[in-house]
Amino acid sequence: MTAFIAPSKQSKSIRTNRGSYWITTFGCQMNKADSERMSGILQKMGYELAKEELKADLILYNTCTIRDNAEQKVYSYLGRQARRKKLDPNLKIIIAGCLAQQEGETLLRRVPEIDLVMGPQHANRLETLLNQVDNGHQVLATDEQHIYEDITTARRESAVCGWVNIIYGCNERCTYCVVPSVRGKEQSRTPQAIKKEIEELAKIGYKEITLLGQNIDAYGRDFKAYEYNESGQLTLSYLLEYIHDIEGIERIRFATSHPRYFTKELIDVCARLPKVCEHFHIPFQSGSNKILKNMARGYTIQTYKEIINYIKQVMPKSSVTADAIVAFPGETKQDFEETLSIIEDIKFDLVNTAAYSPRPNTPAASWPNQLAENIKIDRLREINSLVEKVAKERNLRYQDSIQEVLIESINPKNNSQLMGRTRTNRLTFFPRSQNNEKSHQPGEKVNIKINQIRPFSLTGILV
Ligand code: SAH
Ligand code: SF4
Ligand code: F3S
Repeated sequence: MTAFIAPSKQSKSIRTNRGSYWITTFGCQMNKADSERMSGILQKMGYELAKEELKADLILYNTCTIRDNAEQKVYSYLGRQARRKKLDPNLKIIIAGCLAQQEGETLLRRVPEIDLVMGPQHANRLETLLNQVDNGHQVLATDEQHIYEDITTARRESAVCGWVNIIYGCNERCTYCVVPSVRGKEQSRTPQAIKKEIEELAKIGYKEITLLGQNIDAYGRDFKAYEYNESGQLTLSYLLEYIHDIEGIERIRFATSHPRYFTKELIDVCARLPKVCEHFHIPFQSGSNKILKNMARGYTIQTYKEIINYIKQVMPKSSVTADAIVAFPGETKQDFEETLSIIEDIKFDLVNTAAYSPRPNTPAASWPNQLAENIKIDRLREINSLVEKVAKERNLRYQDSIQEVLIESINPKNNSQLMGRTRTNRLTFFPRSQNNEKSHQPGEKVNIKINQIRPFSLTGILV
């Protein structure tokens, strides 16, 4: 969850001041990227960033519903704003994102103080929707939309690393997951629109871009045959080549990859293109073939391992991260142990873990073989301690090595340090200045000798 707090170079009001706004973002990078675009729209409309959430004239919660706890948090935030609106009827309350899409009208009934409920496919339409609110309507925007190119400049949180959506939605049907029902069908953006956005970012000084999609390696499969280019179907491999040489951009990343669409060709392209970083985020979800089948993931753990082995063969310096779910319905002790053993086998740099949470309108939620809460808690604790142990072991390879770090900002927890990431995506801290040298700036690449490792971050000194 993040809130916009840092002032941005790009904030320029075009119209007169309409009041102040506050955005709180829950959930994944997709939501964060949507918030940056909605923030850009509000700035263009003449809203200014509020200094405090509880004083803002417009509140926008960009919500997540991936698990029940994500959902509950939004309701507690909303209650506070609804009370505020009783004292200040001019306060505008907007609920955007995945929970908004899932709950729709129910949200308006449950919290009638809300002015606008808008699903993720409507993010680029915020201005039109707000105009309807200004005309006195309570607005619900959750119908299926073709996502139009956004003509507003996003107000981005970082001035160094930018997110660029390349495919919206998800066409999979994992039996536990709400995403397809809240984010809709896959819609790939054209290579031309993507390239133009990256070129604009490069022009204003961005150094790193992360291409975003729920299943990024499925990019292009929704294009019709006549939209293909001379090299055949548009794929992520093609796109990476197409955008690679944009001047000014020094690093390219992409997330999230689905094992079903991850090809050797893609790995070969990544190995060949110097700006593509050695980091792959490929969720496996479970180490048990029985559970994978019940999740309808469409691959076996053997094919997953083959992909990872090929990455390690062709790009041996790569870091590999993943997501996993424990205590899925019907998961036995044996199934769970298979998940633990895949973590030991592959030696992941990081695994985002979660206990299964039943979600509305998903098949697995109605199965009778749900596991008890205490099993969920125990398994989550056990997997997390293994993930931490393995991550720390993996980090040993950085000890005393020299890493190229792209500086992103001052460490907010210790302003005598700068922070950035290695090409493998490890967060790295180092002193702002040494021996009275001038301090380096965000956007610069520096070489750092690593002298301290923790499970999920590194510290070093400039060389
Ligand atoms: N498209 C990506 C993941 C998107 S959702 C993929 O398929 O890999 C992000 C993560 O949330 C998933 O990888 C999964 O680990 C987790 N997740 C999704 N639904 C969940 C649920 N019902 N309970 C617990 N975790 C869930
Ligand atoms: Fe959810 Fe599966 Fe789609 Fe990922 S691929 S977003 S887990 S349905
Ligand atoms: Fe959450 Fe929606 Fe992302 S449900 S994880 S914000 S796609």
